[in-house]
Amino acid sequence: MRADPLLTPLTVKHLTFKNRIMLSSHEPAYAEDGMPKDTYRAYHVERAKAGVALTMTAGSATVSTDSPPAFNNILLYKDECVPWLKALADECHEHGTAVMIQMTHLGRRTRWDKGDWLPSLSATHMREPAHRASPKIVEDWDIQRIIKDFADAAERVKAAGLDGLELEAYGHLLDQFWTPLTNELTGPYGGSFDNRLRFIFDVLSAIRERVGDKFLVGVRFSADERLAGGIDAQTGLEIASRFQTSGLVDFLNIIRGHIETDSGLADVIPVQGMANAPYLDFVSAVRSRTGMPTFHAAKISDVATARYAIESGKMDMVGMTRAHIADPHIVRKIMSGQEDRIRPCVGATYCLDRIYQGGMALCIHNPATGRELTMPNDITPAAIAKRIVIVGAGPGGLEAARVAAERGHKVVVFEAADEAGGQIRLTARSPRRKEMLSIIAWRMAECERLGVEFRFNTWAESADVLAESPDCVIIATGGFPDTPPLATGDDLVVSTWDILSGDVAPGKTVLLFDDAGDHAALQAAEMIVEHGGKVEIITPDRTFSPEIMGLNLVPYIRSLQGDHAAFTVAQRLESVERSGNGLTAAIGSDYREFERRVEVDQVVVNCGTKPLDELYFELKPHARNQGAVDYVALTQGRPQDVCHNTNGTFTLYRIGDAVSSRNTHAAIYDALRLMKDM
Ligand SMILES: Cc1cc2nc3c(=O)[nH]c(=O)nc-3n(C[C@H](O)[C@H](O)[C@H](O)COP(=O)(O)O)c2cc1C
Ligand code: SF4
Repeated sequence: MRADPLLTPLTVKHLTFKNRIMLSSHEPAYAEDGMPKDTYRAYHVERAKAGVALTMTAGSATVSTDSPPAFNNILLYKDECVPWLKALADECHEHGTAVMIQMTHLGRRTRWDKGDWLPSLSATHMREPAHRASPKIVEDWDIQRIIKDFADAAERVKAAGLDGLELEAYGHLLDQFWTPLTNELTGPYGGSFDNRLRFIFDVLSAIRERVGDKFLVGVRFSADERLAGGIDAQTGLEIASRFQTSGLVDFLNIIRGHIETDSGLADVIPVQGMANAPYLDFVSAVRSRTGMPTFHAAKISDVATARYAIESGKMDMVGMTRAHIADPHIVRKIMSGQEDRIRPCVGATYCLDRIYQGGMALCIHNPATGRELTMPNDITPAAIAKRIVIVGAGPGGLEAARVAAERGHKVVVFEAADEAGGQIRLTARSPRRKEMLSIIAWRMAECERLGVEFRFNTWAESADVLAESPDCVIIATGGFPDTPPLATGDDLVVSTWDILSGDVAPGKTVLLFDDAGDHAALQAAEMIVEHGGKVEIITPDRTFSPEIMGLNLVPYIRSLQGDHAAFTVAQRLESVERSGNGLTAAIGSDYREFERRVEVDQVVVNCGTKPLDELYFELKPHARNQGAVDYVALTQGRPQDVCHNTNGTFTLYRIGDAVSSRNTHAAIYDALRLMKDM
């Protein structure tokens, strides 16, 4: 049989990677005090154990104190990083995984009000749109100081036993020098192309002097900024050639595009609904021009595409980064012939959006990611098999069914609809968000393999549940659309769910009141516009769509910006009345006495969900725990042992939106952490 191209080794200089799959550098924001401590290490080790060839740790680990951590980056300018990095590298090495780190000075891509409150700096005075800090223009003493900082950091990395490093040169200080768009300098580091490149070559020389030859050094850079007046593909190829001829660089890691705006970043890291693997040919052109080992990552989330990228010679190492955030065991599954069991990355980019909001990277449908110390990816069997009834086959109910069945329990799932999916089916009504269905499809396939019994088209009453003689009942019934407290007109409004499901046709002139700030509002707005309507989206919040974070907002703005949609913040729907064939909506404000009235033919409201909890409250008196959860045991990873009713023969829990209006991650996390100890 022919060898799998993905599983063939690659040798770069003295180092052999055992296969072609890598994690490209990504800062998951798991650092504690700027150090990659236990949580950080466990995350990488989980992927190393499963066979990934190279993990490019950190993302933008900062080399200088005036490059403050914009998203909880590792602080490479502190000596104390050495033992933490060493522990991480040693443990990954035990599993045959090479370990490197991405180093950077963020330049203007950070804020002055973080870390040590030092002024940010750049080769320009212009602020970066995404971070909005106005940098000072670097002075000669800054340049010399930062070159030394890079060299010092490289020495620390080598002392920690890592196999190499890569410099981040897209949107950060190194390329802020070389792109004409952000270099206002005069003198040796400004003006001509050679001068603008001088800084990175000075940095590379200083690093090489410290780390020697037997240590890999690469550059991750945008070889085509796709910005008028910036580095175009021709210049990018020239930069690549210079790296090659310099002899200072061992590998290239190619980016296409720019990241200074959310919109640019979304093209570099394509999100759900955007093209898969968009830059393969471009990466191939860089590889052909230089003949250098070439790495790349950009929405290569399935194994077939990754295999093609390697087999066709487009690149030497393929980054499957979000794919590994969703499923850390991809390589193991490829090697054991279980590719079809890989938990798919659905491109939701919840992971990345969260770090830009100051959170840690979490996967929308793998709650074990980032929680490797407490949440399992592999579920262990229970000592005693139980009979478990789950009501509701949305993401939370299916996760509960999957984990319970992995534990060896006998599982029955009741579902009122004729298929699984719950709210995800509504989400997937937008073609751009169809990938979300894989969250359901993957769980259904796993449940089928594990022998879970489904009863579709069944509205479970308490008698149906009790007739199963369950040991445990999980209520995962989700919610139904909530409504705003209107003075009049409750019966005149429709919900975003009505629009998304197709139960109500979109109007021609629509007021959409968004009190939840989540995807449903903008998805409904898109449908209204697609059907030829005009929509004004109003929200009582001070920004629109506060629950949709930066990258996820990009496709919505692209589709809604124009004459057919308008956004109004800090206003609240008060009442709706009939007027002729249409409706009059009265709108107020939480900030001052204010009223305006608009005439429309449809008012749509988006207020999250109210729990569908009737069944839960019916069953509650009969349950041994009467629905109570020991939160201390739950959060400490211990089994539940609450007993309020000694006559009860089963325990009862509710999860996801059946408790309160939250999101997909919350529902799945509820399920995993309860069922893993059941
Ligand atoms: C949570 C997260 C943080 C990231 N941080 C960085 C970073 O600091 N530096 C970097 O070069 N790329 C970073 N990336 C981008 C990834 O390296 C990669 O280019 C991107 O995720 C596209 O590859 P994928 O589709 O395989 O995920 C980050 C990605 C994610 C998901
Ligand atoms: S959050 Fe979405 S994009 Fe990120 S890893 Fe999970 S499935 Fe993939």
